[in-house]
Amino acid sequence: MLIKTPRRSDCVESEVTPEALYLNRRRFMQGAALSAAAAGLPAISQADSGRYADVESADAPAWFDRKLGQAQWGSVTVKDEAITPFPDATHYNNFYEFGPDKGDPARHAQQLVTDPWVVTVDGEVAKPGKYTIEDLVSGPALEERIYRLRCVEAWSMVIPWLGVPLAALIRRLEPMASARYVRFETLVRPDQMPGMRTGFSLIDWPYVEGLRMDEAMHPLSLMTLGMYGRVLPNQNGAPLRLVVPWKYGFKSIKSIVRISFVRDQPATTWQTMAPHEYGFYANVNPAVSHPRWSQARERRLPGSLFSPNVRKTEMFNGYADEVSGLYAGMDLAKEY
Ligand code: MTE
Repeated sequence: MLIKTPRRSDCVESEVTPEALYLNRRRFMQGAALSAAAAGLPAISQADSGRYADVESADAPAWFDRKLGQAQWGSVTVKDEAITPFPDATHYNNFYEFGPDKGDPARHAQQLVTDPWVVTVDGEVAKPGKYTIEDLVSGPALEERIYRLRCVEAWSMVIPWLGVPLAALIRRLEPMASARYVRFETLVRPDQMPGMRTGFSLIDWPYVEGLRMDEAMHPLSLMTLGMYGRVLPNQNGAPLRLVVPWKYGFKSIKSIVRISFVRDQPATTWQTMAPHEYGFYANVNPAVSHPRWSQARERRLPGSLFSPNVRKTEMFNGYADEVSGLYAGMDLAKEY
């Protein structure tokens, strides 16, 4: 088991990585520039070639910068696995609203307007309403969590996300006892999302995902606002995206505008389109093949034709110790 569940006393990553690499890149560079200037040194120090060296800086809303200033760094990490370079994580994407090719999101997602952003909360909940994103995530501290991301297409990455525990966000909204599932919906704006304008896509928009309430309340479920020490790039689901690391990537719905607390299992996008290929649970499971390919192995990106970087897929994507209890007594070959 390579993962640690978040406990404030465990700051594993900071024991092995210089603290400077944990700072927001822009802040770090500003700080480095000041101290380097004072010392008469070149502005960019050696530390800048470290973990976030290839990260493009971005303008973030003021509320994000405020939260970032109090972030807890490396609260969950993956040992002995390299973080995927930022250019790969931001140029090999699935975000069908912007087109079907892996490069389409990076090409087109700059058209997405993410500020201001309003999220509708409805259903079986004591505090329904329209929330600004700032208000919605105002309570809990931002945490950096380095998780594996395993796509159902058999590729994977390791991403340092910045987010708030989904459980904390949900608790504040006070779901009723009758709420057994949480349903999430992505923005529908064909004027900003060219993939929606082509007749090519078979998806019945909006993109919809869902979790059982106990899955949503699990400490690993993260409502994500950033990655690589900065605000989320649009192609990765800005400004608000779910990350559920033990499930196939398609559960990690992007650019969320609606959170509904519901009694019945919601009809989700991929399960509705191809139920024999994609289930509601979508737990990473090397023993259950996709009808068209095996799930026993995965390509860890970046790789190449000559060096495909293939590794064994782990049950629940390596998070079995933390999450297998959620599925006790279930036949995971049937409820895939
Ligand atoms: N969310 C929306 N709204 N639209 C999508 O097409 N694709 C999913 C998921 N979330 C998708 C989405 C799939 S299939 C994967 S593998 C991940 O996003 C990819 O996340 P990434 O592009 O940040 O790696």
